[in-house]
Amino acid sequence: SKTLTQSPIAPAKPAKPHLPDSQTVTSVQHWTDRLFSFRVTRPQSLRFRSGEFVMIGLMGDNGKPLLRAYSIASPNWDEELEFYSIKVPDGPLTSKLQHINVGDEIILRPKPVGTLVHDALLPGKRVWFLATGTGIAPFASLMRDPETYEKYDQVIMMHTCRTADELEYGRKLVEDLQNDELIGEMVEGKLLYYPTTTREETARMGRITDNLSTGKVFEDLGIPPMNQSEDRAMVCGSLDFNIDVKAVLESFGLREGANSEPREYVVEKAFVGDGI
Ligand code: FAD
Ligand code: A2P
Repeated sequence: SKTLTQSPIAPAKPAKPHLPDSQTVTSVQHWTDRLFSFRVTRPQSLRFRSGEFVMIGLMGDNGKPLLRAYSIASPNWDEELEFYSIKVPDGPLTSKLQHINVGDEIILRPKPVGTLVHDALLPGKRVWFLATGTGIAPFASLMRDPETYEKYDQVIMMHTCRTADELEYGRKLVEDLQNDELIGEMVEGKLLYYPTTTREETARMGRITDNLSTGKVFEDLGIPPMNQSEDRAMVCGSLDFNIDVKAVLESFGLREGANSEPREYVVEKAFVGDGI
């Protein structure tokens, strides 16, 4: 009979500590000294609705997970998950997260939630995606989801940043979408991209709130002013932006909805805090 003896093999190498809910980084791209995007493996069991967010992070120095909310920027059909992130110089998470490399592990809690989902809006003719800064992340998912184009005749992506380099992630994403063999045809003539800067001279300028309330964007795009029967909106930006843009949407007769009570617009914070 076999007896347990000391194994002749050397004791197992101390395994690299395996993070709970860990996923592996597959690519990283830096856009500016404040912005980067990255892709990770997707847990096989993870289902989400385009526009939702999850908690992701790294193991903290105290051995506890350091997690933050992140919108999933990839569409729900993608085999990987993409995120678009700020780099806060002394931010507990992003001061470390900005240094991740391909092959590194991050923690991802597979419980997607959020209000920026199609189910939270009543059917309409046009959908407006209104974002400042990293607030474009949930729309990076929704713009790449065929359901968006099945539900609406027109999809208008308004994205505003201080400078042109901060718009680059969104600009490239829209360009790739238009040139995509499969989705390109579906978005053609339907996806209207309206990027603006506020602190650098570019072809299109101004705050989203101003371009809506003056009617400039309707004129530029040749579409009727926003109205309750045809237009739907999803908003994602800083707290101040969200408050101000809500007032503009309400002035056009749109009402805030939720998953449990679909109406004409929904809002989510792109981050909590006063900005940097
Ligand atoms: P924190 O201590 O979390 O933040 C420090 C300060 O930095 C904040 O007080 C704020 O002033 C500023 N700040 C934080 N995040 C941002 C930001 N995104 N843009 C501008 N200023 C910011 N962040 C992303 O980069 N991408 C996302 O897709 C994203 N999705 C989010 C979804 C939700 C629902 C919420 C609530 C937040 C989301 N955030 C996102 C913010 C994110 O959760 C963290 O705050 C961010 O990663 C910074 O983490 P930190 O620990 O380094 O600093
Ligand atoms: P502005 O440059 O006029 O402040 P930030 O970098 O501060 O997070 O801002 C991102 C973008 O959102 C900037 O272009 C900024 O314009 C704009 N913005 C900030 N606050 C508001 C607001 N309350 N209403 C509309 N746009 C805003």
